[in-house]
Amino acid sequence: MVAVAILAAGRGTRMKSSLPKVLHPLGGRTLLERVLDSLQNLSVDHCLVVVGYGAEQVQQAMAAYPHLTFVEQRQQLGTGHAAQQVLPYLENYEGDLLVLNGDVPLLRPETLNQLITTHQQQGNAATLLTAQLPNPKGYGRVFCDGSNRVTQIVEDRDCSTAQKQNQRINAGVYCFRWPVLAEVLPKLQTNNDQQEYYLTDTVLLMQPVMAVDVEDYQEILGINDRLQLANAHGVLQQRVKEQWMRLGVTLIDPDSITIDDQVQIHPDAVIEPQTHLRGISTIGAGCRIGPGTLIENSTIHDQTTVLYSVVTDSTVGAGSRVGPYSHLRGEVTVGDRCRIGNFVELKATTVGDRTNVAHLTYLGNATVGAHVNVGAGTITANYDGYQKHPTVIGDRTKTGSNSVLVAPLTIGTDVTIAAGSVITQDVPSDSLAIARAQQTVKPGWRPKQLPPQA
Ligand code: UD1
Ligand code: CA
Repeated sequence: MVAVAILAAGRGTRMKSSLPKVLHPLGGRTLLERVLDSLQNLSVDHCLVVVGYGAEQVQQAMAAYPHLTFVEQRQQLGTGHAAQQVLPYLENYEGDLLVLNGDVPLLRPETLNQLITTHQQQGNAATLLTAQLPNPKGYGRVFCDGSNRVTQIVEDRDCSTAQKQNQRINAGVYCFRWPVLAEVLPKLQTNNDQQEYYLTDTVLLMQPVMAVDVEDYQEILGINDRLQLANAHGVLQQRVKEQWMRLGVTLIDPDSITIDDQVQIHPDAVIEPQTHLRGISTIGAGCRIGPGTLIENSTIHDQTTVLYSVVTDSTVGAGSRVGPYSHLRGEVTVGDRCRIGNFVELKATTVGDRTNVAHLTYLGNATVGAHVNVGAGTITANYDGYQKHPTVIGDRTKTGSNSVLVAPLTIGTDVTIAAGSVITQDVPSDSLAIARAQQTVKPGWRPKQLPPQA
């Protein structure tokens, strides 16, 4: 068991943003959510989040995590000062405190487990995660003696030219024996370039402090500006895509594809270039998605093709074809073996199995049966300017090209709607409905200005 404190009070000045830094999204989840994800393998006694800049906004954004305790740091006087705010919340606590920076979002849960295990086995006062960075600029440098005991951590801006050569950096991830840290925190001073209380200075006041190098330095990348945010996104994407390729998914031109890490993809799916899979989405086995497609919070069942289309908050059955240029705008359920075609927009609509909506159609608030053929240019007029109204179309019905279905409307099974009809009244099953002007043909008719036919 450990207690956790996440330092998340800073404004993140270098982001140049009105949004608190820890709320910036990275691959569909905020930085702070990602830090919480890295705790998933631990049993945690208390989870404290130190908030300050945008405190209310951060708390609101984290409403789905009721086990968090928010600790306010009114003025942001440094990471050491942030840690001091935790003191009243852990009075008489005897265990270890894991301290994480809220802007280090790529940590693997195993890495934290290992840090804590090492800390406890070695009986250290503090153990910190370090990395050897090819470009350590901006990070605190960690200095150790011959036996890997940390003697000092110096911030980049406080480093001498010689100290800057040290590539071993502080990840901002620490395990402290809490009673020791609690005693040391009040003694921090601000004699540094920023005139701040540095958490890192506590290592001067306790021992033994040990450093543990992380194997893959990309895990500990911190986010201070938008460049680092983009870089972290790249690292995350690399991880996610490698995982899916190993599990039997084909990615064609992976660099042009983005996949959020809560997406599930079954084997033999093929993801084509310029395709983006977002949110909580599932792609079935053998699906072909893309090129040029966005799938968000949606489920696509096995063997379905989605080409140059946008699908959000929807479900598409197995063996169906969607696109090119379809837009499933939310609350849409398409059955198995359907064809949703070119320039078709669906909203809050259910389409039964083996139904075709193949060309130039808008269906909103519609319930369409199975084996239906929705003719080219069929439109549901579902909105009267105030309210949406439903349209029901029974099994095996065919709507003619360019029919307008004025809702509320119920059309039975085995109905044929004549092309060009404007249907305003319910149509019973097994019937033909025609609602258009009768065609008139005038034999021998010519415009007046032309001479009569010889
Ligand atoms: C910090 C470390 C540095 C380390 C780096 C790793 C210190 C002094 N330096 O530097 O050694 O290499 O992280 O990424 O700790 N915060 C507060 N209250 C404050 C100030 C900061 O809660 O008053 C929070 C921030 O929201 C952020 C975290 O602490 O999540 C780190 O602060 P930041 O200013 O980004 O520190 P760095 O300069 O990156
Ligand atoms: Ca930082």
